[in-house]
This record gives sequence, C-alpha cells and structure tokens, in this order.
Amino acid sequence: MPIYFHEQDKEFHLTNDSMSYIFCILKNKHLGQIYYGKKLVERESFQHLIPFPPVTPGLTACVYENDPQFSLDLLKQEYPCFGTTDFRQPAFQILQSDGSRITNFEYQSHRIFKGKPELDGLPATYVERDKEANTVEITLLDTQINVELKLLYTIYEDFPVITRSCCFSNKGDTPVTLLRAMSASFDLPDADFQLLHLAGAWARERFIEKRPLKPGIQSIHSARGASSAHHNPFLALIRPETTEHHGEAYGFSLVYSGNFLGQVEVDHYQTCRLIFGINPFDWQWKLAKNQKFQTPELVTVYSDQGLNKMSQIFHQLYRTRLARGFWRDQNRPVLINNWEATYFDFDEDKILKIAQRAQEFGVKLFVLDDGWFGKRNDDKTSLGDWFVNKDKLPNGLDGLGNKVNQLDLAFGLWVEPEMISKNSHLYSKHPDWLIQVPQRQLSHGRNQFVLDLSQQEVVDYLYKTISDILQKAPITYVKWDMNRNMTEVGSLGATADRQQEVPHRYILGLYQLLEKLINQFPHILFESCASGGGRFDPGMLYYMPQTWASDDTDGVERLKIQYGTSLVYPLSSIGAHVSAVPNHQVNRITSINFRGNVAFFGCFGYELDLNTLNEKEKQVIVKQIQFYEKHQQLIQQGKFYRILSPFDSNEIAWLVVNQQQTQAIVGFYQILAQPNQRIKSLKLIGLNPDYQYQIENHPIQYLSGGELMYSGLPIQQRFTGTEAGGTGESGDFWSEVFILTRTK
Ligand code: DGJ
Repeated sequence: MPIYFHEQDKEFHLTNDSMSYIFCILKNKHLGQIYYGKKLVERESFQHLIPFPPVTPGLTACVYENDPQFSLDLLKQEYPCFGTTDFRQPAFQILQSDGSRITNFEYQSHRIFKGKPELDGLPATYVERDKEANTVEITLLDTQINVELKLLYTIYEDFPVITRSCCFSNKGDTPVTLLRAMSASFDLPDADFQLLHLAGAWARERFIEKRPLKPGIQSIHSARGASSAHHNPFLALIRPETTEHHGEAYGFSLVYSGNFLGQVEVDHYQTCRLIFGINPFDWQWKLAKNQKFQTPELVTVYSDQGLNKMSQIFHQLYRTRLARGFWRDQNRPVLINNWEATYFDFDEDKILKIAQRAQEFGVKLFVLDDGWFGKRNDDKTSLGDWFVNKDKLPNGLDGLGNKVNQLDLAFGLWVEPEMISKNSHLYSKHPDWLIQVPQRQLSHGRNQFVLDLSQQEVVDYLYKTISDILQKAPITYVKWDMNRNMTEVGSLGATADRQQEVPHRYILGLYQLLEKLINQFPHILFESCASGGGRFDPGMLYYMPQTWASDDTDGVERLKIQYGTSLVYPLSSIGAHVSAVPNHQVNRITSINFRGNVAFFGCFGYELDLNTLNEKEKQVIVKQIQFYEKHQQLIQQGKFYRILSPFDSNEIAWLVVNQQQTQAIVGFYQILAQPNQRIKSLKLIGLNPDYQYQIENHPIQYLSGGELMYSGLPIQQRFTGTEAGGTGESGDFWSEVFILTRTK
C-alpha cells in the first residue's frame, strides 16, 4: 500500500518505486514534515528523522511553557501558520471578525483512498483508473473560529509525483477573510539548492534562469491577471551539482492560469521553505458561513536523475493525465495560419489562394486569424462583435469554411472572447461588462479592454456567442487568443468586500466557459494563445492540448523558447510554425530548412503565404510536411532529451526517443559558423546501447546505441567559406535532423 499511516507515531508515508514523502502529526496537532526525496524503505517510525537541537537557541519562542524544545520555528511543517512561534512566511492567513490573524488548525481525522478526486471548478491532473494513484485527505479544524481545513495529497503509482491542494470551509456563523491560501508549502532540510525558473516577456517567453538560494526571500510571481509571459508558474530546486542528466531536482508546477506566487525563503538555520499558490498580493477572499475556498493544485516532481528526467515526468503526466479529450493522443493536423501572411489585410479570394496553395503542399488545416469580424481592419476596433465582416468574407464563415473544406482542408478560426474594444456594439450595450474601477482611469492594452468574466452573465453571454459561431460554420480548430493583462482591477458585479476576489473569480469564470465549450465541441482542437506564450500554463493545458508558444517565430529565437518550454511542457503542447524571412520579429534570415528543423519539435505548421516562395523552398516544404507526418507520433509521444542548450552554447541539440527505443529523431543546430572546425561527436542519450541503429541522412549508415551514446554521432560541419573548396553557402543557422531506426 503506497500510503502508510503509522498509528503510534501518527505518521503518513507516501511512497512508490522511486520516492518517499513523509509527514506526521506534531505534539500541537499541526502537521510536521519529516522527509521528501528518494524512496526510503518503509518502517514503523521515522521520528528519529526529526531533528531537535540539543539546546534551545536564544530568541526562540516556544509553544508550551514546560517544553523549551517545541517551537514551530525549529520544525519543518506541512502547511504553516504565522503568529505563533514560527517567524517564516506562512502558507495561509485568516483575518477574523475581531481583527486577529492568529489561528490554530488541529488535526481531526484523515481518509486514505484509491484514486484522485477532481477539484471543484479547477483544472487538475487526473487518473483514468483508481489504481493509478492514492490519496490522503487530512482534516484540520480551528475550533475557535470553526473553520475547517482539508489538505489533499495524491501520490501517483507510476510517477514520482505528489499533487497537493487544500480547501477551507467556514463551518461557523461569522465570516472570515482569507488573506492568503497557498496551494502547498514545503520545508526542505537545507538550502543547498539552485533556484531555477522560466522568465521572459512577450516574444521571448520561458528563458531559463538559475541562481543559488541565499538567505532571505526569493520569488517569482504574476500580478497581471494571467500566469504571464514574464514568469511561468513553475520553479525547480536543484542541487548545485545537478545537471540535465544527474543529480536531484524538485520541480513545482502550479495548475493555474492567473496571478500566482512561487516563493522560497531561506531562514536563519539555512533550511528553506517553498510556498506556491495564488498570489496573496492584492488578493483576499471572504468566506461567509458554509462557504468553501478550494486552492489550485500544485504538482511536484522529484527526480534523482537530473532536470531532464524531471521534465520527462512532467511531460508524461501533463500529456496523458492533464490534457484531455479527443485530441489528447491524436496526431495534430499540420496547419497554415494567415496571420503573418496577411495580418488584417485579406478577403475571401486572398484567403482561398493561401489555403489552396497550402493544400497542394500537403497542409491539412487552414486557420483564419484575427480580422474576420466587425470592422476589424486594425487592432483598434470590434473585439466583442463576433459577427462576420461581409466586406471581407461575403459568404460568411460558413461559406468560407465550406470552400476551404472543398479544397480538402479542415477549417479553423481565431477568436479572442475575453476582450472588448470600446469601438464595438458590445461596448455600447454593456459598458458595465468591463473589468474596471468606477471613476478611475481605464487603461488599455493593444487598444482593448478586459471583459469581466467574474460576472456570471458575461460568461453565459460568451458561451452562447462562441458556441453559436462554432455551430454555424464547419470549424474543427479554434485558436483562443488573449492579448492584454488586467489593470484597474475591479468588478461592477462584486460588493466592496469582494473586489480583491475579482482576478481569481475571472479565472474561475474562464475555466467554467472553457469546460462548457470543450464538452459541447469535443472534436474541436483548441489551441491556447496569449500574444503567443503569455498564458502557457498547466491550467490552460487541461482545456486545450496545445498552446501557441510565442509570437516570435524566428528559428534561432525559437530554440531558446522551445528549449525553456520543454522544462515542463510536452512537445505535444508546443505550437511551432515556420514563418517567412526576413523574420517579422527580428528581421533575421534563416533557411527554410533551419526553420522547419526547429518547428518539427512541436505541433508543426506554417505562418506565411506559400505563394511567395521560390521553387527550391516549395520542394522543401512538401518534404517537410511528409517528414513531419511520418514522424509525428514519435515527436508528440516520445521521450524528449535535451543535449546541448541554446543558453550556453553556439550549438544546440535535442532528441526524441520512442518508448521501445527503436526510433529516435535528433535535431542539431549551429547558430554561427566557425571556420575549420574539427569533426564533433554529439553524444546521444536515451538509446539502447545494444541495439544497432540505421542513421538516415548521415555518411555513417549504422552505429550501435552504445557508439551513439558513449562515442557520439559524428557531426561534420561543412566548410562554408569560398576559399579552400568551401560550399559558398552560409554556415550560420545551419541544422541537421537525423532519424535513427533500430535494425537489430
Ligand atoms: C496574437 C497572437 O499571438 C498572434 O498569433 C495573432 O493571432 C494575433 N494575436 C492576432 O491579433
């Protein structure tokens, strides 16, 4: 049984083949943490792992007058409070009617059961069969205020994964106010870690940042109303010696799309406390009689084989037990999107020309991007007016969709339902539907404003509007965009004491809307987007199995973006397209081969007018589509290994290997050419050393897995100068993709 309860010492041991997580009920009936890491053999008691200092240090506050050793400051805890004897930042805080924030949640009972419960109104990882996971739910109570706290822990049978969340319920008569309610807290016994996270901005999302922990508080957060391009809701604590393939890594990923905080505090004893959850800054939640508050889920992964292993676990979990629905395991259609080809300047003829040419090349899905509705010829107008612009599309969406279908292409559509332009019919009817604070400045972003999804009638209206569109045209794909963050946050639908609930209520409204839509249209493939990767998070992945990774489509930039994204998110979730050159974001010119070789490692597509290409490029594109479709299953479902990082090297490499280790696809990229280089050996990983592999597209036809991993795949850089018999072609932005197939 993988969750043990030790009756005598009141300990819980959550374990599977690779890890152990142990905590107990402390003397004061709070929960104390004992151990989190590599699997420990089960035994009757682990109390000896709780360190108590022989002498109580000066300035220590103690809980009991007759016990100088029992101080919460000296103990690792599970869900700590503030204001008793622990001076570190707490996991929660509750403001009570008398102004006090002091609480005392004591253990009442627990329940261990098979499976994993759903979270009310929130996305979460799931199981398909109860035997895949075990859960323990601990109930604690503060009797003075009659507020109950349930802590939920699930351990997966086959993954070194613990998920945590909690739920507060007010069982008393008097309202209380949650000032913070983090999803989980982890006290680790030392601070000898590097903090690794994914930071960025629009068009350069999820760049890897790493720094050693220092005494004090270090954190990542979003207060933008969305998880954001600036900090992904993920961080890892890794040992200083940890590399991609060796050493300990603890990964923490919040299944949430709104404001969040991930914080690590290193205390005066060089232990560290991690708290992760909804950002308590500018947040509070009133809990009236009989009301509950459910936190989002925090997913934690333990790896003793480096960061890459941590990522593979996230990939497998998120691909198969977070993403859902028909498209979860399906090959995604190679698509063409008209955004960079036309921007707002298109009509039906132009669209059909792009679509027709794409179909001739082998593309399977045409996606009509922004500009098809209202009077939207630029970004100043019409969001909210979701009726077709007949000047551009005289036959409507259904007419265009049918014509696209007649070309033997599926038809997809861009929408941005959460937003509104002031220049719209919707705004003139419903100025009260915007996120706003009366009599205050109403700031815009991209000339648009945010609809108040914390109001149920707005959610209902959007559901009806979007479902009407999806019903009336032959749409099989939706790109769901969101292009600004929230300012002047307030709702005309909320009372004064609930204004700080608005950002979370908005996200709950969004989740409710998405849940209804995906249930009504289970065969539509939804792709999430927020000016590219401004809301690339596990919460959205629960509703939409792929996300447009970035508005930056330059192949070189994309190496970093996709590499960083792969820390947490599976390739099956990463939208990656080939666009035109000079690139629209950085003006760089790279070959069509290079752009394709980067975009292959994601959900592949094009974002340009194929009519504008030269003959050579056209031939390449036909081959690219055939190649991708042939290897798509391997790419989407195989194990992804990072080999050389774009963050520290001019050369980048990664590969995907299938479960049986019989097939692999290797991507190798060189940013800038250097003359007269030695032949390099790229040491692969993840293969079977005893298998022999045939190598497509390489002068050496066969190598064993051992040779490929321990000696390396020789990479012969072309001599590119015009002197000494060089090719005369640029060696900048050079790339190769190799397919390895087991022959014996
Ligand atoms: C931002 C998206 O990321 C782009 O791909 C495009 O859809 C534009 N919005 C359209 O406004």
